[in-house]
Amino acid sequence: MIETISKNFFMSLANNKSLNKAAKKWGLNFGATKVVAGSTIDSAIGAVRHLNNKGIVATLDHLGEFVFTEKEALEATDYCIKTLEAIGLSGVKTGLSIKITQLGLDIDRNFCINNIKRILETAKRHDLFVRIDMEDYSHCQDTIDITKMFHESYQNVGTVIQSYLFRSLDDVKDLKGIPLRIVKGAYKESPEVAYQEKKDIDENYLNLVKEHLLGGTYTAIASHDHILIEKVKQFVQENNIPKNLFEFQMLYGFRRTLWESLVSEGYKMRIYVPFGNDWFGYYMRRLAERPQNVSFAFKGFFSK
Ligand code: FDA
Repeated sequence: MIETISKNFFMSLANNKSLNKAAKKWGLNFGATKVVAGSTIDSAIGAVRHLNNKGIVATLDHLGEFVFTEKEALEATDYCIKTLEAIGLSGVKTGLSIKITQLGLDIDRNFCINNIKRILETAKRHDLFVRIDMEDYSHCQDTIDITKMFHESYQNVGTVIQSYLFRSLDDVKDLKGIPLRIVKGAYKESPEVAYQEKKDIDENYLNLVKEHLLGGTYTAIASHDHILIEKVKQFVQENNIPKNLFEFQMLYGFRRTLWESLVSEGYKMRIYVPFGNDWFGYYMRRLAERPQNVSFAFKGFFSK
């Protein structure tokens, strides 16, 4: 009950446009520095270098929500390109995660496609991988269509599938051959389209991972759930799936002991490293997921 209230509260903050806008001016606050790697490309690359030194690769995400104008979408595109150039120059081991709404999908589809193309061209030049993150349900089909379209000409692109959606097993079959990150799903979706119970979401998660791995396509298992991770480890061992066909992924700032032990067991580990001054929505979604994370916020607040 308290968990549901807390989840709804933080989700409503995450979707509050005025607060998101105001937070850009506050700078990283309320403990967000624990889960966001600073506001500049340099700070993000510094965080990645630190991870690389521990045998971990990364994917950078320049945070950005609520893009309404072509000017904002072009700025976001240029920033992604600048980030890719900086990654190439620095030699750190990281890819880039992007969001199609940040690149103008809701403004004009062709304009957005052109922006993604510029990003993929730059990434290809530097031999870097770009992951198109999955957003809320209303953008799911577009994300899949756009990924499929680009994957015909660019091998360096993949997307994300959410196990809370009923449609996801069909999507995984449809996307065979395209690298996928499997997640549970971070948005609030209706019972018309999504499982609401953890048990169902977890069961579907394992089915999606198995389907994609058995299909022989590279799979990222993105979860902090130690029980699911153990089940995946058991499955890959039983089915002789080579360690170079999959990787584990976690978010920056979470479950360090768990990722350290996966690395020591020889598994490939990637950390998703968000950065930038548009941190509020991302941080509120993390607080919604796990009420215990709220202690970050309080500690951050009182240490100000
Ligand atoms: P969940 O939060 O369900 O936790 C399961 C259990 O694990 C908990 O009950 C607890 O026992 C344990 N646990 C979890 N966190 C813990 C902690 N910090 N400390 C101790 N125990 C803990 N979503 C999306 O919609 N689109 C996307 O593109 C992405 N991308 C993405 C990338 C990466 C790398 C990750 C890790 C996640 C995403 N997500 C995402 C977010 C994802 O959908 C999901 O919301 C969160 O990962 C939370 O779900 P988990 O699977 O981590 O476990």
